[in-house]
Amino acid sequence: MVAVLGYSREQIAVAVKEMYSTVAADPEAGFHFPVGRSASRAADYDERLLDPVPDRALAAFAGVGCPFRADVIRPGNVVLDVGSGSGVDAIIASRLVGPAGKVLALDMTPAMLDRLRDLVRGEGLANIEVIEGDAARVPLPDASVDVVTSNGVLNLVPDKRRAIAEIFRVLRPGGRVQIADIVIGLPVTPDCRADPKLWAECVVGATVDEDYLDMFRDAGFDDVEVLRSHDYFRHSPSPETQEVARSFGARAIELRMRRGRRVPAALQALRRLDPRRVGRQLHRRGLWGVAALAAALLACYGTLAAVAALAAAGVAVALDEAAWAAAIVALAALAALAVLAGHRRHRRIGPGITAVLGAVVIGYVMFVSYSIVFELAGFALVAGGVAWDYILRQRSVSRLARKGAVASSA
Ligand SMILES: C[S@@+](CC[C@H](N)C(=O)[O-])C[C@H]1O[C@@H](n2cnc3c(N)ncnc32)[C@H](O)[C@@H]1O
Repeated sequence: MVAVLGYSREQIAVAVKEMYSTVAADPEAGFHFPVGRSASRAADYDERLLDPVPDRALAAFAGVGCPFRADVIRPGNVVLDVGSGSGVDAIIASRLVGPAGKVLALDMTPAMLDRLRDLVRGEGLANIEVIEGDAARVPLPDASVDVVTSNGVLNLVPDKRRAIAEIFRVLRPGGRVQIADIVIGLPVTPDCRADPKLWAECVVGATVDEDYLDMFRDAGFDDVEVLRSHDYFRHSPSPETQEVARSFGARAIELRMRRGRRVPAALQALRRLDPRRVGRQLHRRGLWGVAALAAALLACYGTLAAVAALAAAGVAVALDEAAWAAAIVALAALAALAVLAGHRRHRRIGPGITAVLGAVVIGYVMFVSYSIVFELAGFALVAGGVAWDYILRQRSVSRLARKGAVASSA
């Protein structure tokens, strides 16, 4: 999962409420994301679905996709719309469930709720109930709804696992979920995710696609299907936002899934240690260099410490020194290669040269002429290259996100 560190959830909630209060009060104010009818076009809604939706609801629509492609709502169902906004999806769902069903429209922004309450009263939408609440603490009993729908919301929620656990909790066993949301291909740095303004205005709250799907699977959802993925930001009125979204691989996805069995917390934690997942995380965060360097140090000094400890315990171990040295050099070379690959992201060759130099020095001391001073110098050079590369990668990601935020607030 994308690391979320050091931010204040309250500050992010305030920034998100501020942003969507403006959308509710003045939908034509001009945002870096599509709002209103242009948003419904960007999300590719079938015009027939929008037929029963009053203009006043459509005017403040801010969805990112069309969750109804999942086709999971049936007459008589109780449907929860998480982050209902101005109520477009709630109104469509209210038609689908009919008079025997019910739609619970949950949102945390009072201005959006007021807008929707007026509409519900004015249009006599008797089967919609408007509820003020947080997606991370849904004020509903366990197993009380048949379907959860949500559109463009979870990317704005800091504690996504908690919100997903809440969706699971309120759904009856076998209940269905339809979601449209933003995902990214490249993780955003923790400092960007810590900035409430960036969170509300940019793509920084979104999660990396595979991690997003894994969060649902971990929580116990089955048959998690991506029905469609589209370039939502292509419709952004801001070219800078389009560029930032492209750089992060940000896009909208539409999902369908089913509530399965509850997964014990210990098993959920164990799933996160799946080596394929760990490998993916290292790759996306540019941490292969760190991992290879740590492995090289462990192979070198960890082995020495283990052999010494065994000897102290009276166990003699015969070490194949050539194989040992080859393993250390191979891991140091791997770290240097990973650092060299960072050039593609930040276009600086310094870290790669430093790390390669370090790996060459380690190779020299292992196979040509041993010296502890040169060995330590070799490791220090590789470590320097790894750290330099990491800092440059983080800076390039931060710059991208901030560029998008500056553009969107201009
Ligand atoms: C992008 S808008 C989408 C609104 C609506 N789903 C639509 O399609 O027009 C996001 C909405 O989610 C609400 N929201 C964001 N975070 C929330 C949270 N933690 N709990 C409840 N609502 C939230 C916001 O107030 C806003 O109305």
